[in-house]
Amino acid sequence: MSPTYSEYLRLEELLKLQTGVEGKTREISNDELHFILVHQNFELWFKLIINELKCARDILSSDFVEEENLPQAVHHMERVIETFKLMSMQWKVMETLEPQDFLNFRDDLGTASGFESFQMREMENLMGQKWVDGKLFGKKLDSKQKSLYDVTCEWLFRTPIQGSILGSDGDESSVNNFIDEYVEAHKKQYPDTNQEVLEFFDVEATTRRRRAGLLFIESYRSLPLLAWPRKLISKLIELEQAMVLWRASHARMVERMIGRRIGTGGSSGVDYLDMTTKFRVFIDLWLVRSILIKKDSLPKLINSEFYEFKGK
Ligand code: HEM
Repeated sequence: MSPTYSEYLRLEELLKLQTGVEGKTREISNDELHFILVHQNFELWFKLIINELKCARDILSSDFVEEENLPQAVHHMERVIETFKLMSMQWKVMETLEPQDFLNFRDDLGTASGFESFQMREMENLMGQKWVDGKLFGKKLDSKQKSLYDVTCEWLFRTPIQGSILGSDGDESSVNNFIDEYVEAHKKQYPDTNQEVLEFFDVEATTRRRRAGLLFIESYRSLPLLAWPRKLISKLIELEQAMVLWRASHARMVERMIGRRIGTGGSSGVDYLDMTTKFRVFIDLWLVRSILIKKDSLPKLINSEFYEFKGK
Protein backbone atom coordinates (compact mmCIF):
# COMPACT_ATOMS: atom_id res chain seq x y z
CA MET A 1 0.00 0.00 0.00
CA SER A 2 1.36 3.40 -0.88
CA PRO A 3 2.16 5.66 2.07
CA THR A 4 0.32 8.90 2.63
CA TYR A 5 2.17 12.19 2.17
CA SER A 6 2.44 12.54 5.92
CA GLU A 7 3.68 8.96 6.45
CA TYR A 8 6.28 9.31 3.74
CA LEU A 9 7.68 12.52 5.26
CA ARG A 10 7.11 11.39 8.85
CA LEU A 11 5.45 14.73 9.42
CA GLU A 12 3.75 13.86 12.69
CA GLU A 13 7.12 13.20 14.31
CA LEU A 14 8.87 16.09 12.61
CA LEU A 15 6.29 18.66 13.67
CA LYS A 16 6.44 17.58 17.31
CA LEU A 17 10.06 18.64 17.63
CA GLN A 18 9.65 22.39 18.14
CA THR A 19 9.11 22.44 21.89
CA GLY A 20 12.58 23.42 23.06
CA VAL A 21 14.47 21.18 25.50
CA GLU A 22 12.57 17.97 26.30
CA GLY A 23 10.70 18.06 29.59
CA LYS A 24 10.66 21.87 29.65
CA THR A 25 7.59 23.01 31.55
CA ARG A 26 7.05 26.57 30.33
CA GLU A 27 5.26 27.24 27.06
CA ILE A 28 7.45 28.66 24.35
CA SER A 29 6.50 32.00 22.87
CA ASN A 30 5.71 32.68 19.24
CA ASP A 31 9.16 34.29 18.87
CA GLU A 32 10.94 31.31 20.35
CA LEU A 33 9.04 28.93 18.10
CA HIS A 34 10.25 31.04 15.19
CA PHE A 35 13.82 30.89 16.54
CA ILE A 36 13.73 27.09 16.85
CA LEU A 37 12.13 26.57 13.44
CA VAL A 38 14.71 28.72 11.66
CA HIS A 39 17.55 26.81 13.31
CA GLN A 40 16.04 23.43 12.51
CA ASN A 41 15.56 24.51 8.91
CA PHE A 42 19.25 25.33 8.65
CA GLU A 43 20.27 22.05 10.23
CA LEU A 44 18.17 20.17 7.66
CA TRP A 45 19.95 22.01 4.86
CA PHE A 46 23.27 21.16 6.54
CA LYS A 47 22.29 17.50 6.34
CA LEU A 48 21.73 17.84 2.61
CA ILE A 49 25.05 19.64 2.13
CA ILE A 50 26.99 16.99 4.06
CA ASN A 51 25.49 14.25 1.95
CA GLU A 52 26.25 16.04 -1.34
CA LEU A 53 29.80 16.89 -0.27
CA LYS A 54 30.42 13.23 0.55
CA CYS A 55 29.14 12.19 -2.89
CA ALA A 56 31.41 14.71 -4.65
CA ARG A 57 34.36 13.66 -2.48
CA ASP A 58 33.79 9.96 -3.21
CA ILE A 59 33.73 10.53 -6.97
CA LEU A 60 37.04 12.39 -6.85
CA SER A 61 38.70 10.02 -4.43
CA SER A 62 39.50 7.20 -6.88
CA ASP A 63 43.07 6.80 -8.13
CA PHE A 64 41.96 7.54 -11.64
CA VAL A 65 38.94 9.79 -12.12
CA GLU A 66 37.23 9.01 -15.43
CA GLU A 67 36.48 12.14 -17.45
CA GLU A 68 32.83 11.12 -17.66
CA ASN A 69 32.46 11.13 -13.86
CA LEU A 70 33.39 14.78 -13.47
CA PRO A 71 29.94 16.13 -14.48
CA GLN A 72 28.39 14.13 -11.64
CA ALA A 73 30.82 15.63 -9.11
CA VAL A 74 30.00 19.09 -10.50
CA HIS A 75 26.30 18.31 -10.17
CA HIS A 76 26.67 17.56 -6.44
CA MET A 77 28.59 20.77 -5.95
CA GLU A 78 25.96 22.80 -7.78
CA ARG A 79 23.37 21.55 -5.33
CA VAL A 80 25.56 22.62 -2.40
CA ILE A 81 26.15 26.05 -3.96
CA GLU A 82 22.44 26.70 -4.47
CA THR A 83 21.72 25.58 -0.90
CA PHE A 84 24.31 27.98 0.51
CA LYS A 85 22.83 30.79 -1.58
CA LEU A 86 19.37 29.99 -0.27
CA MET A 87 20.69 29.85 3.31
CA SER A 88 22.32 33.26 2.89
CA MET A 89 18.88 34.74 2.28
CA GLN A 90 17.33 32.78 5.12
CA TRP A 91 18.92 35.09 7.71
CA LYS A 92 16.33 37.66 6.68
CA VAL A 93 13.63 35.48 8.23
CA MET A 94 15.67 35.34 11.46
CA GLU A 95 15.90 39.15 11.43
CA THR A 96 12.15 39.48 11.82
CA LEU A 97 12.88 38.76 15.49
CA GLU A 98 13.35 42.11 17.22
CA PRO A 99 16.60 42.35 19.24
CA GLN A 100 14.67 43.28 22.38
CA ASP A 101 12.26 40.36 21.97
CA PHE A 102 15.20 37.98 21.58
CA LEU A 103 16.28 38.99 25.10
CA ASN A 104 13.05 37.48 26.46
CA PHE A 105 14.44 33.99 26.00
CA ARG A 106 18.17 34.48 25.25
CA ASP A 107 19.25 33.73 28.85
CA ASP A 108 17.43 30.38 28.70
CA LEU A 109 19.82 29.27 25.97
CA GLY A 110 22.62 29.14 28.55
CA THR A 111 25.79 28.25 26.71
CA ALA A 112 23.97 26.62 23.76
CA SER A 113 25.18 28.12 20.49
CA GLY A 114 25.50 27.39 16.77
CA PHE A 115 29.13 27.05 17.74
CA GLU A 116 28.26 23.53 18.92
CA SER A 117 26.58 22.54 15.66
CA PHE A 118 28.25 19.22 14.92
CA GLN A 119 26.88 19.31 11.39
CA MET A 120 28.62 22.67 10.86
CA ARG A 121 31.93 21.09 11.90
CA GLU A 122 31.30 18.12 9.67
CA MET A 123 30.70 20.43 6.70
CA GLU A 124 33.97 22.20 7.45
CA ASN A 125 35.82 18.92 7.85
CA LEU A 126 34.42 17.63 4.60
CA MET A 127 35.46 20.79 2.80
CA GLY A 128 38.93 20.50 4.34
CA GLN A 129 38.93 23.38 6.81
CA LYS A 130 42.06 23.21 8.96
CA TRP A 131 41.85 24.45 12.54
CA VAL A 132 45.02 25.02 14.55
CA ASP A 133 46.26 21.59 15.71
CA GLY A 134 42.90 20.13 14.66
CA LYS A 135 41.33 21.97 17.57
CA LEU A 136 38.70 24.69 17.79
CA PHE A 137 39.04 26.73 20.99
CA GLY A 138 40.77 23.82 22.69
CA LYS A 139 38.20 21.21 21.66
CA LYS A 140 39.52 18.39 19.48
CA LEU A 141 37.71 18.02 16.18
CA ASP A 142 37.33 14.64 14.57
CA SER A 143 38.55 14.74 10.97
CA LYS A 144 39.75 11.28 10.07
CA GLN A 145 37.85 11.17 6.80
CA LYS A 146 39.26 12.52 3.54
CA SER A 147 38.07 15.97 2.59
CA LEU A 148 37.09 17.47 -0.72
CA TYR A 149 40.30 19.46 -0.46
CA ASP A 150 42.42 16.30 -0.01
CA VAL A 151 40.95 14.53 -3.03
CA THR A 152 41.14 17.68 -5.17
CA CYS A 153 44.86 17.94 -4.36
CA GLU A 154 45.43 14.32 -5.33
CA TRP A 155 43.48 14.79 -8.53
CA LEU A 156 45.32 17.98 -9.50
CA PHE A 157 48.65 16.29 -8.78
CA ARG A 158 47.94 13.80 -11.57
CA THR A 159 47.09 16.43 -14.22
CA PRO A 160 48.89 15.68 -17.51
CA ILE A 161 51.11 18.72 -18.17
CA GLN A 162 52.14 19.46 -21.78
CA GLY A 163 50.90 15.93 -22.51
CA SER A 164 53.21 14.42 -19.93
CA ILE A 165 51.67 11.88 -17.56
CA LEU A 166 52.70 11.62 -13.92
CA GLY A 167 55.28 8.88 -13.45
CA SER A 168 56.11 8.61 -17.17
CA ASP A 169 59.70 8.94 -18.45
CA GLY A 170 60.81 12.55 -18.48
CA ASP A 171 57.75 13.81 -16.61
CA GLU A 172 59.87 15.74 -14.15
CA SER A 173 61.73 17.63 -16.86
CA SER A 174 58.52 18.30 -18.84
CA VAL A 175 56.96 19.83 -15.75
CA ASN A 176 60.10 21.84 -14.98
CA ASN A 177 60.26 23.11 -18.56
CA PHE A 178 56.66 24.20 -18.41
CA ILE A 179 57.23 26.05 -15.14
CA ASP A 180 60.43 27.74 -16.43
CA GLU A 181 58.75 28.84 -19.63
CA TYR A 182 55.74 30.12 -17.73
CA VAL A 183 57.91 32.12 -15.34
CA GLU A 184 59.69 33.67 -18.35
CA ALA A 185 56.43 34.48 -20.13
CA HIS A 186 55.04 36.02 -16.95
CA LYS A 187 58.17 38.11 -16.50
CA LYS A 188 57.75 39.58 -19.98
CA GLN A 189 54.17 40.58 -19.29
CA TYR A 190 54.36 41.57 -15.62
CA PRO A 191 58.01 42.25 -14.69
CA ASP A 192 57.02 43.91 -11.40
CA THR A 193 55.16 40.94 -9.94
CA ASN A 194 57.29 38.07 -11.22
CA GLN A 195 58.33 37.25 -7.66
CA GLU A 196 54.81 35.97 -6.96
CA VAL A 197 55.14 33.22 -9.60
CA LEU A 198 58.54 32.23 -8.28
CA GLU A 199 57.10 31.92 -4.79
CA PHE A 200 54.13 29.92 -6.10
CA PHE A 201 56.54 27.27 -7.34
CA ASP A 202 59.13 27.51 -4.58
CA VAL A 203 57.55 24.59 -2.66
CA GLU A 204 58.19 20.87 -2.17
CA ALA A 205 57.88 18.57 -5.20
CA THR A 206 54.33 17.26 -4.69
CA THR A 207 52.82 20.69 -4.16
CA ARG A 208 54.87 21.99 -7.07
CA ARG A 209 53.49 19.44 -9.55
CA ARG A 210 49.98 19.95 -8.22
CA ARG A 211 50.27 23.70 -8.65
CA ALA A 212 51.71 23.29 -12.14
CA GLY A 213 48.71 21.07 -12.98
CA LEU A 214 46.29 23.67 -11.70
CA LEU A 215 48.01 26.46 -13.61
CA PHE A 216 48.02 24.32 -16.75
CA ILE A 217 44.26 23.71 -16.56
CA GLU A 218 43.54 27.39 -15.84
CA SER A 219 45.83 28.55 -18.66
CA TYR A 220 44.86 26.23 -21.51
CA ARG A 221 41.16 26.42 -20.71
CA SER A 222 39.95 25.99 -24.27
CA LEU A 223 41.39 22.49 -24.75
CA PRO A 224 38.52 20.01 -25.10
CA LEU A 225 39.82 17.53 -22.53
CA LEU A 226 40.27 20.30 -19.97
CA ALA A 227 36.66 21.51 -20.27
CA TRP A 228 35.34 19.52 -17.31
CA PRO A 229 38.43 19.87 -15.12
CA ARG A 230 38.23 23.65 -15.45
CA LYS A 231 34.50 23.58 -14.75
CA LEU A 232 35.18 21.55 -11.63
CA ILE A 233 37.74 24.10 -10.44
CA SER A 234 35.30 26.97 -11.09
CA LYS A 235 32.66 25.14 -9.06
CA LEU A 236 35.05 24.60 -6.15
CA ILE A 237 35.73 28.33 -6.09
CA GLU A 238 32.03 29.10 -6.36
CA LEU A 239 31.34 26.66 -3.55
CA GLU A 240 33.85 28.24 -1.22
CA GLN A 241 32.65 31.72 -2.18
CA ALA A 242 29.05 30.74 -1.40
CA MET A 243 30.12 29.43 2.00
CA VAL A 244 32.11 32.59 2.79
CA LEU A 245 29.15 34.79 1.80
CA TRP A 246 26.86 32.70 3.98
CA ARG A 247 29.23 33.13 6.94
CA ALA A 248 29.40 36.88 6.24
CA SER A 249 25.62 37.25 6.10
CA HIS A 250 25.29 35.37 9.41
CA ALA A 251 27.74 37.83 10.97
CA ARG A 252 25.75 40.81 9.68
CA MET A 253 22.50 39.37 11.04
CA VAL A 254 24.16 38.72 14.40
CA GLU A 255 25.54 42.29 14.54
CA ARG A 256 22.02 43.60 14.02
CA MET A 257 20.62 41.26 16.66
CA ILE A 258 23.14 41.48 19.54
CA GLY A 259 25.54 44.26 18.53
CA ARG A 260 28.92 43.73 20.21
CA ARG A 261 27.69 41.39 22.95
CA ILE A 262 29.64 38.18 23.48
CA GLY A 263 28.05 35.00 22.09
CA THR A 264 26.20 32.42 24.17
CA GLY A 265 28.94 30.01 23.10
CA GLY A 266 31.51 32.26 24.79
CA SER A 267 33.24 33.71 21.73
CA SER A 268 33.73 37.42 21.13
CA GLY A 269 30.59 37.29 18.96
CA VAL A 270 30.62 39.34 15.75
CA ASP A 271 34.42 39.72 15.80
CA TYR A 272 34.82 35.96 15.91
CA LEU A 273 32.29 35.45 13.11
CA ASP A 274 34.00 38.08 10.94
CA MET A 275 37.30 36.32 11.52
CA THR A 276 35.83 33.07 10.14
CA THR A 277 35.02 34.84 6.85
CA LYS A 278 38.77 35.14 6.26
CA PHE A 279 39.27 31.36 6.13
CA ARG A 280 40.04 29.81 2.77
CA VAL A 281 40.28 26.07 2.18
CA PHE A 282 41.19 26.00 -1.50
CA ILE A 283 44.11 28.37 -1.08
CA ASP A 284 45.91 27.42 -4.32
CA LEU A 285 42.75 27.86 -6.34
CA TRP A 286 42.49 31.45 -5.08
CA LEU A 287 46.23 32.08 -5.31
CA VAL A 288 46.59 31.00 -8.93
CA ARG A 289 44.33 33.84 -10.03
CA SER A 290 46.98 36.40 -9.19
CA ILE A 291 49.57 34.85 -11.50
CA LEU A 292 47.56 34.18 -14.68
CA ILE A 293 48.72 35.72 -17.95
CA LYS A 294 47.01 36.47 -21.28
CA LYS A 295 46.30 33.53 -23.56
CA ASP A 296 48.54 34.95 -26.33
CA SER A 297 51.53 35.13 -23.99
CA LEU A 298 51.38 31.51 -22.77
CA PRO A 299 54.24 29.07 -23.41
CA LYS A 300 53.72 27.14 -26.65
CA LEU A 301 51.49 24.13 -26.11
CA ILE A 302 53.21 20.77 -26.67
CA ASN A 303 51.28 17.56 -27.50
CA SER A 304 48.03 19.42 -28.07
CA GLU A 305 46.52 16.26 -29.62
CA PHE A 306 46.67 14.67 -26.15
CA TYR A 307 43.90 17.04 -25.05
CA GLU A 308 41.55 16.42 -27.99
CA PHE A 309 38.40 14.35 -27.52
CA LYS A 310 39.07 10.78 -28.56
CA GLY A 311 36.40 8.57 -30.12
CA LYS A 312 36.06 5.16 -28.50
C1 HEM B 1 19.25 35.41 16.89
C2 HEM B 1 19.91 34.64 16.06
C3 HEM B 1 21.35 34.29 16.17
C4 HEM B 1 22.35 34.89 16.87
C5 HEM B 1 22.27 36.15 17.75
C6 HEM B 1 23.57 34.13 16.63
C7 HEM B 1 24.78 34.42 17.19
C8 HEM B 1 25.93 33.67 17.02
C9 HEM B 1 27.20 33.96 17.63
C10 HEM B 1 27.50 35.17 18.52
C11 HEM B 1 28.05 32.98 17.28
C12 HEM B 1 29.54 32.84 17.68
C13 HEM B 1 29.70 31.74 18.68
C14 HEM B 1 29.20 32.09 20.07
O1 HEM B 1 29.97 32.69 20.83
O2 HEM B 1 28.04 31.77 20.38
C15 HEM B 1 27.33 32.08 16.41
C16 HEM B 1 27.88 30.96 15.82
C17 HEM B 1 27.20 30.14 14.96
N1 HEM B 1 25.88 30.25 14.61
FE1 HEM B 1 24.61 31.72 15.12
N2 HEM B 1 23.27 33.12 15.77
C18 HEM B 1 21.95 33.16 15.47
C19 HEM B 1 21.27 32.31 14.64
C20 HEM B 1 21.81 31.23 14.00
C21 HEM B 1 21.08 30.32 13.18
C22 HEM B 1 19.59 30.42 12.79
C23 HEM B 1 21.95 29.36 12.79
C24 HEM B 1 21.62 28.20 11.91
C25 HEM B 1 21.95 26.97 12.22
C26 HEM B 1 23.25 29.68 13.35
C27 HEM B 1 24.39 28.94 13.19
C28 HEM B 1 25.59 29.23 13.75
C29 HEM B 1 26.77 28.44 13.53
C30 HEM B 1 26.88 27.21 12.64
C31 HEM B 1 27.78 29.02 14.29
C32 HEM B 1 29.24 28.57 14.36
C33 HEM B 1 30.05 29.41 13.38
C34 HEM B 1 31.52 29.07 13.36
O3 HEM B 1 32.08 28.67 14.40
O4 HEM B 1 32.13 29.21 12.28
N3 HEM B 1 23.11 30.83 14.08
N4 HEM B 1 26.05 32.53 16.27
